[in-house]
Amino acid sequence: MPRREPRSVTGSEQLGAYTLVRVDRGGLDPGVPGQFFMVEAPGRLLPRALSLCLAPVGELAFLLEAVGPGTEAMCALLPGERVHVFGPLGNGFRLGVERPLLVGGGIGMAPLPYLAHALPDAPAVLGFRTERHAEAAALLPQAEVVVEPTLVTERIDPGLDVLACGPEPMLRAVGELCAHAQLAWEAPMACGYGACYGCAVEIDGELKRLCVEGPVLGARRGGAHGSATKPLFWSAPDDPLRATPESAVSGVADEAGTW
Ligand SMILES: Cc1cc2nc3c(=O)[nH]c(=O)nc-3n(C[C@H](O)[C@H](O)[C@H](O)COP(=O)(O)OP(=O)(O)OC[C@H]3O[C@@H](n4cnc5c(N)ncnc54)[C@H](O)[C@@H]3O)c2cc1C
Ligand code: FES
Repeated sequence: MPRREPRSVTGSEQLGAYTLVRVDRGGLDPGVPGQFFMVEAPGRLLPRALSLCLAPVGELAFLLEAVGPGTEAMCALLPGERVHVFGPLGNGFRLGVERPLLVGGGIGMAPLPYLAHALPDAPAVLGFRTERHAEAAALLPQAEVVVEPTLVTERIDPGLDVLACGPEPMLRAVGELCAHAQLAWEAPMACGYGACYGCAVEIDGELKRLCVEGPVLGARRGGAHGSATKPLFWSAPDDPLRATPESAVSGVADEAGTW
């Protein structure tokens, strides 16, 4: 059952290009692997969606890549600081599969350590841009690690039950290989529980809210075998109209940088 609670940061550590932020768990349920939490980004109006990476006793841990103001603020959190955490939200991975293979690309590896806790014998393959990014693979010691130009798709046995999270091109390629894969998609999320339509994507030919229908979808739904998953408000990073979680929901540009 999702709850929103103010939690204290218990630790923050650098793992190559990423930051692992831990908060005390309080009364929050860690949920099913692949579900996500809306975590307060200090100084920003709206929280940001983060997958649960680890759930050690009494804590929740999130792996972050600083890609913009919200994630930068979260990576700078210090022990003792308090942030509001809301979740668990959305639909996670279906765990009742016979021959699981965990597949992660870049920061998409975030939900896999917690998933590996639920599926301890599952093999895993992780792909990264650089050796520095690959340092985060220490969180998933059983994983085979590849660094570009080698791609994770070169290491996937299509006969396995793939559970994957990563960038959209990777998910599309995995969906092409494995029609029954479970894929964790992303879209800008402002509320995380179905109220704002900021995360609307095309699924089965209809616009649906990824935070409600997903973020984990079968490859035949919205993936390589289905219709486009492009978020309604999505655009290239250098597009002046590109969506941020705030502009996706309000339509107001982040001109003053004061969100
Ligand atoms: C269900 C879910 C789980 C997520 N889990 C994690 C996680 O565990 N760790 C983590 O670091 N990030 C995760 N993300 C992505 C994270 O929410 C975004 O990177 C964050 O909202 C960006 O906020 P910002 O203010 O730092 O950057 P912004 O200024 O909002 O964005 C910076 C750049 O990232 C792009 N961007 C923004 N939001 C997203 C998004 N959701 N997906 C892809 N690109 C985006 C923007 O177009 C822009 O190019 C997750 C997203 C979703 C939807
Ligand atoms: S994030 Fe608000 S409806 Fe999905």
